Amino acid sequence: MRRAVMTGLGTYVPERILSNHDLERMVDTNDEWIVSRTGIRERRMARNDEATSDMAVHAAERALDDAGLSADDLDFILMATNTPDTVFPSTAARLQARLSERPIAGVDLQAGCTGWVYGLAMAASMIEAGVYRRILVVASDKLSSITDYEDRSTAVLFGDGAGAVVLEAMEDSPYGILSSYLNADGRGADLLALPAGGSRWPASKDTVDSRLHFLKMSGNEVFRFAVKAMPDAVEQGLARAGLTVQDIDLLIPHQANQRIIEAAMRHFDLPSSKVIQNIERYGNTSVASIPLAMDEARQEGRLQNGSLMVLAAFGAGLTWGSVVARWGGCQ
Ligand code: COA
Repeated sequence: MRRAVMTGLGTYVPERILSNHDLERMVDTNDEWIVSRTGIRERRMARNDEATSDMAVHAAERALDDAGLSADDLDFILMATNTPDTVFPSTAARLQARLSERPIAGVDLQAGCTGWVYGLAMAASMIEAGVYRRILVVASDKLSSITDYEDRSTAVLFGDGAGAVVLEAMEDSPYGILSSYLNADGRGADLLALPAGGSRWPASKDTVDSRLHFLKMSGNEVFRFAVKAMPDAVEQGLARAGLTVQDIDLLIPHQANQRIIEAAMRHFDLPSSKVIQNIERYGNTSVASIPLAMDEARQEGRLQNGSLMVLAAFGAGLTWGSVVARWGGCQ
C-alpha cells in the first residue's frame, strides 16, 4: 500500500516580536484581557519588505534540508495561504522560482486557517493515487498585512509565520498520513473575510477609506462555530482511520484561541501532555500554526518516531478538517 510520509519539516517565524504591552500603546486593550480571553502574550511580525513567499522560502529550504533533498527532487508545490504575495499569479509559482531553476508544477490553495490540513490531505491523495512521488506542502501567511491595527477585536489575535513538509511516496510504510477529513460551509463566508480587493469589490478610494482591505471578523460567531468544528474534525478524522481518541499520542490543533483548544481537551478528556499549545508566543498564525506547533513538539521530544498525531483546524470559509498521521520516516 502506498502512503504519503512526512520526510522533512521546516518552519520560519520573523524576528520582530509584538507583545501585548506593545499593543496597549496602539489600541484600547490590555495584557490581562488578551491573555485571559485568548492565551496570547506575543506574536511575530514580518518586516515591511518581507512577503508571504519570503517566509515560505525559509520554511521550504529547512524542510528540504530535513528530508535530505533539493527542490529539484520535487514533483509538485502545494502552497496554502490567505495572504498571497499578489492576487495572481500564485505564490507557489514565485516560491518555485526562488527554490529551483527547474520548472516544478505548483498551485495555491485557499481554505482559511484550515489550509495546512487541506494541503496535506490533497497532497496525500495525489501521492496515494500514484500521480506524484514528492510534494512540498507549504503554509505561509502574513496576516499582519491584512490586520487592522485600529480594531482591537482583531489586532490582538494574529501573527506571521510559515511551515513546510516534504511528503514522499513510500510502499508499506508504518508512517505517514493515515486519513483525512475536510469540510466547508460557505453560509458562514462573511463571518471572517477580507471584504475588498477582489472582483466583488475592487480596490477604490472608497474601499481604502472604509478600511475594507483589512480582515473583518464576527468573533463570537466564529468562536461558537470553532468549539463544534474542532471536535467534529478530530472525530471524523479518527473514524476514517479506524481509530479512537484513546489512540492519540498528540493532538496538534490550530492555535486560534486557548479557550477553543481547552474546550476540545475537555470534550475528549485529553490531558495537556497530549495537546500541543504554543499560541502564547505566536498568536494565530493561520495556516502556519499547526506546522509551527509540530516543529516545537518535535524539538521538545514530544513528537517522536511512531507518535500518532491528529492535526485539526478550522477557519474562514467556513472550513474545518483534520489529518491523522503517524510521525516517522525523517532521516
Ligand atoms: N481588548 C479589550 N477589550 C476588548 C478587546 C480587546 N482587544 N476586544 C474586544 N474587547 C471587548 C469588547 O468590546 C466587549 O466589550 P463590551 O462587553 O463592552 O461590548 C468585550 O471585550 C467582550 O467582547 P467579546 O467579543 O464578547 O469577547 P470574547 O470573549 O468573545 O473574545 C475573541 C473575543 C475574538 C477573542 C473570541 O470571540 C474569539 O477568539 N473568537 C474566535 C476567533 C477566531 O478563532 N478567529 C480565527 C479563526 S481561524
